[in-house]
Amino acid sequence: MRVLSGIQPTGRPHWGNFFGAIHQYIDLQDDNDGFYFIADMHALTTVRDAKALKQYTLDAALDLMALGLDPKKATLFVQSQVPEVSELTWLLMTGTPMGLLERCHAYKDKKEKGLNADAGLFTYPVLMAADILIYDSEVVPVGQDQIQHIEVARDLAGSFNHTFGETFKLPKAKTLDHSAKVPGTDGEKMSKSYNNTLPLFGNVKQIRKQIMRITTDSRAMEEPKEPEGDHLFQLYRLFSSPEDVETMAAMYRRGGFGYGDVKKAVAEASENYFAEARARREELEANLDYVHETLRDGAARAREVAAGVLSRAQKACGLR
Ligand code: TYM
Repeated sequence: MRVLSGIQPTGRPHWGNFFGAIHQYIDLQDDNDGFYFIADMHALTTVRDAKALKQYTLDAALDLMALGLDPKKATLFVQSQVPEVSELTWLLMTGTPMGLLERCHAYKDKKEKGLNADAGLFTYPVLMAADILIYDSEVVPVGQDQIQHIEVARDLAGSFNHTFGETFKLPKAKTLDHSAKVPGTDGEKMSKSYNNTLPLFGNVKQIRKQIMRITTDSRAMEEPKEPEGDHLFQLYRLFSSPEDVETMAAMYRRGGFGYGDVKKAVAEASENYFAEARARREELEANLDYVHETLRDGAARAREVAAGVLSRAQKACGLR
């Protein structure tokens, strides 16, 4: 089955990116034909510094490979290296109702805050639909915040098929139960734009400090507490075995524990969890030729598939 997903190179990836999405990429790479890419054209809607964008793009490749994405099993590439995607975006755009895009949250949120939105942000979901449809993708592993965009891709594929005949496969989003919406240090969704992220890589001491600053409620720690609604508990669960999660949940329900201890447990568990990836990232950093070669090979493979689907779509609508 063709599985596809993308991540924007807009800075350091965080726990939400990993447990919501990247973890799924890696789980799915063994038994599927995985296509994973770094969405540098989407990042252009926020990063407007050529040097930074180039660096973030390379960093994202290092991150994904260090975390276990295996180029022998899956195809890893950079979005802009497949120009066919931009051509398909235009075809899809001609059949995209304005109202559909007006309802999309990235644009809507910005507009509601009174900020100026550009056409790139407005049409962001159409580029994303092209990303998905051009590889005949069937499953798209993502976090909850991307579900709406995948629905748009499905809608656009459906209406194109209806108008011009069967052309695109209809993709489906895939999310995980406990980590589709990983909370940040303040309990809101973890997101670079909320400044509440815990990064996967970076200075360990610094990350530990950030973990110790996770907000907790003001109720006395002696009082029993329902673990499910607590974001610190949700973060603990990401790294822990079902037995440890049960023990922690029982402790919450009994009361009489210190949040500081839970935070220390989260810090320790997360450091152990990412230790191997951290070491692998350093090795990869010393072997950038291999990373560049991987991205080149990935783009060549992706282009082959993309060219076939683009040509099918062009024929269907009379461009060839
Ligand atoms: P991006 O770069 O914002 O995020 C990458 C992935 O991480 C997931 N994610 C989360 N999951 C759980 N909890 C969180 N707090 C959290 N924060 C982020 C996102 O849902 C996403 O799966 N538009 C996409 C990139 C993209 C794409 C695509 C994805 C471009 N084209 C085609 C899939 C298919 C984005 O901005 O992801």
